[in-house]
Amino acid sequence: MTIQSIILAAGQGTRMCSDIPKVLHRIGGKTMLRHVYDLACQQGQGRGLINIVYGHGGERILEASRAFEADWTLQKEQRGTGHAVLQAVDWIMDDSAVLILYGDVPLLEAKTVTKLLALTEASPLALLTVKLAQPYGYGRIVRDLRGEVICIVEEKDADDIQKGITEVNTGIMAVRGVNLKSWLGRITDNNAQGEFYLTDIIGLAVQDGVTVATMEPADAAEVMGINNREQLAHLERSFQLKIAGKLMRNGVTLRDPSRFDVRGEISVGRDVEIDVNVILEGRVSIGNNVKIGANVIISDSELGDDVVVQAHSIIESSQIGAGCRVGPYARLRPETVLDEKVHIGNFVEIKKTSVAQGSKINHLSYVGDAVVGANVNIGAGTITCNYDGANKHQTVIEDGAFIGSDTQLVAPVTVGKNATIGAGSTITRDAPQNALTISRVKQVSLDGWKRPEKKRN
Ligand code: UD1
Ligand code: CA
Repeated sequence: MTIQSIILAAGQGTRMCSDIPKVLHRIGGKTMLRHVYDLACQQGQGRGLINIVYGHGGERILEASRAFEADWTLQKEQRGTGHAVLQAVDWIMDDSAVLILYGDVPLLEAKTVTKLLALTEASPLALLTVKLAQPYGYGRIVRDLRGEVICIVEEKDADDIQKGITEVNTGIMAVRGVNLKSWLGRITDNNAQGEFYLTDIIGLAVQDGVTVATMEPADAAEVMGINNREQLAHLERSFQLKIAGKLMRNGVTLRDPSRFDVRGEISVGRDVEIDVNVILEGRVSIGNNVKIGANVIISDSELGDDVVVQAHSIIESSQIGAGCRVGPYARLRPETVLDEKVHIGNFVEIKKTSVAQGSKINHLSYVGDAVVGANVNIGAGTITCNYDGANKHQTVIEDGAFIGSDTQLVAPVTVGKNATIGAGSTITRDAPQNALTISRVKQVSLDGWKRPEKKRN
């Protein structure tokens, strides 16, 4: 059976107290809507298979979701979940299984959805329900004495006995297209909230002699919706703990899984140790035996085997070869490429620079727009003056060069193979290979020189 997914995302989300539409708030760096869209894509992608019902924050939602391959249906006025699905009624195919998803329920798992959809082979209507100790606010699943579902009653329409029911409607359901269309045509807004409830199709199905299929998710967090920022934070942590758990099961040591955040797609090797408060963003790949210290942020980067990143370092769009040592307090900016066994030490900033094997930049330096050869030693406080106020220029430092401390390399400039630069030099012209190049005023000592004294008045 073809699967068509409808994502309900028109609600305002008043309790977020936000100018951003609710479904554009993020979990693990990805908008909630994107999570749900990605889940729908796993059931089948392309025109006619995913429909997003939107309303509040329409322009912003469309803008943020340009890359989606989906049909969009505007629900101008939000008159209930049934009204929302009705807006897309002509899009629904008779012979499909229609999966109803909520844009603000971001952590639903594909395996749960697959099971739910499988239930539509036996019954035209399958519901995902969950038992909650605090069912307040949810639609309650009303069953008869044999345990078959009779209907769903919303909180505001429920009597005291119904309010005591702990099995609730998650909102997620799978319905055969032809049946959904017929039941949608029969729902009314005759209820406490004056809304068209999608949940009314359950009662209608039962009237038609249908036995409603139900199932529960493996984990209640999967079906939790987000209405406020506390719930957002709560689900963020459930999401992160899930990723952390998977990593630990695959041989990664996390010093504290509750202080570890992933906001993107990562791959991590074996015997990697990650200390607290590490954030991985975008696409990050980490080799085997890597050690990452506390408070490190890595985005869109590749780390080879045996790399050590010490505390408080920030690495962005960089490639780090096997056996490199970075930090503490290092900043690698985009287009940094470190070959094997390079050392980058504290308070060093590197940008758009390649550093060949075995070179060391250990203290307090800025190296930008540079090509650094192998086995180069760059002393403390070295600066590449790469910017003349209008353009960026390149610095080339060839293999085996030694740059003395507190050197300024005014680009464009080349330091030749095995050249030595004396400490405190300002290098404005190329330094030849094998020679010592030095540019500082001669040291003088003045006999009898007196320090100025404080004036008395
Ligand atoms: C709904 C269910 C309730 C269930 C609960 C689970 C109905 C009538 N009730 O409650 O049984 O326990 O979800 O959270 O279905 N939406 C629209 N357009 C609308 C109204 C809602 O797109 O006109 C979207 C919202 O953006 C949201 C979802 O539908 O993603 C659910 O809406 P919400 O108002 O939270 O659901 P309730 O009616 O409270
Ligand atoms: Ca809700």
